[in-house]
Amino acid sequence: MPAEFFSAISNQKTPPVYKFFDGKAWKESTSGKTITVHSPIHGETVGELQSVTPGEIDHVMQSALTAQPAWEATPLNKRVSVTHLAADWIRHFEDYLTALLVREIGKTDSEARSEIKRTADLTDYFADEVQSIRGETLDSDNFPGYDKGRIAMVERVAYGAVVAIAPFNYPVNLAASKIVPALLMGNAVVFKPPTQGGISGVHLTRMFEKAGVPAGIISCVTGGGTDVGDYLASHPKVDVITFTGSSDTGAAIARKAGMKPLVFECGGNNPAVVLPDADMNLTAREIIKGGYQYAGQRCTAIKYVLGSQGVLDQLLPVVLTQMGESVKMGDPRSPETKLVGPVISVSAAGQFQQWIDESVKLGAKIVTGGSRKGNYMEPTILTGVTPDMPVVTHEVFGPLVSFISIKSMDEAVTIINDSMFGLQASVFTKDEGTGLTFAKQLNVGTVQINGSPQRGPDHFPFLGVKRSGLGVQGVRYSLEAMSRLKPVVINKPQ
Ligand code: G3H
Repeated sequence: MPAEFFSAISNQKTPPVYKFFDGKAWKESTSGKTITVHSPIHGETVGELQSVTPGEIDHVMQSALTAQPAWEATPLNKRVSVTHLAADWIRHFEDYLTALLVREIGKTDSEARSEIKRTADLTDYFADEVQSIRGETLDSDNFPGYDKGRIAMVERVAYGAVVAIAPFNYPVNLAASKIVPALLMGNAVVFKPPTQGGISGVHLTRMFEKAGVPAGIISCVTGGGTDVGDYLASHPKVDVITFTGSSDTGAAIARKAGMKPLVFECGGNNPAVVLPDADMNLTAREIIKGGYQYAGQRCTAIKYVLGSQGVLDQLLPVVLTQMGESVKMGDPRSPETKLVGPVISVSAAGQFQQWIDESVKLGAKIVTGGSRKGNYMEPTILTGVTPDMPVVTHEVFGPLVSFISIKSMDEAVTIINDSMFGLQASVFTKDEGTGLTFAKQLNVGTVQINGSPQRGPDHFPFLGVKRSGLGVQGVRYSLEAMSRLKPVVINKPQ
């Protein structure tokens, strides 16, 4: 069944050459160029992706804009049915997509499977939630100096063409979390998958096509970020860009995009603050999950722990004991591997190694880990870290947690608020009131009390401040972000 369902998207050879989707048909690019996707597990070729040309992108954009008005005019219940069908296909191919994700981005089976299931659930949830999104009417006499007589009917309407750019670490889920709300609100979507993860993105597109999204309304353009991504970012026919990826790429897209709405989820460098009364077992468990899941390649990963020296001395042995049981680096396909598979590339691993080495030169101490073989980085803990060290000033998208000793809670607030990132922070304490008081002082998107940073559940608002993001995502918030208010005012003659 998968072979037949997905037959149109590749040339069926081994390794396959995948086509791009121009909104109507699966095609090979006239560029004649492809990009090879290597598995981070062992480097073997998973497949090739088309490197589309600017002319092909222009054509896709035009098709999107031509088709969009009819899609927006399609009854919502029909858009909802198509979306539920797409969720059904995602669920139907759970095993196939899980295996593909494991190979393409090096997740463990359980991490990959959870991404697929979460995507199907999220897609259904969006389709249910959209039915409660409605406009409102406003009367003029609520405002001083106005009588009755004017009524504003405020509708939510589509923007037009949405560009959705997804990252390698959730190439299915963070693609669907952009594509689905945009489609449901009546937009056409031009989807740009990541290179690593692009094959999964191509498969996802096929499921929306087969679910019945009309011609021109979803397309999938593959190619390098500097070719395709940059061209899309500055394309005059794009109405909205929704993106997840690094802060540097986000800033570059924003510069090119000009005056259009942007919804960005960018880098995080998330702290965990541990108060003296914290439950050390729970705290250690959450730090490990937060720090090492998918080898630390999550924007919501815990990157550093802040506590008094006494607290850190108490916590560290508990973390190390638990790590012995719950963390093991290795081939993500092996049942012995726990949380830490490979990082996405040798060059990324090399960059992290450099930041670790530089931080060690500045006085940080390696408690465990600290080195790598190729792109397999050992789960690492550093102590004696200070906020100015490279492992803290950069977003280390790898399995590293740094321990920073602080003298007071005020110092913790200063360190967190001085960071250029502001995605999430965790506070561990048995006193939720204290946690709440502390949370109010932090300039981050979300504060978690007694839990590791995380995006889910997916109907919660998800946002970052400073270099961590723009706008708000989360089911209802994403639906709102993919539509705009349009008031029509009826002025009754006086
Ligand atoms: O990498 C960024 C993701 O939005 C993180 O999602 O917290 O569910 O792993 P997650």
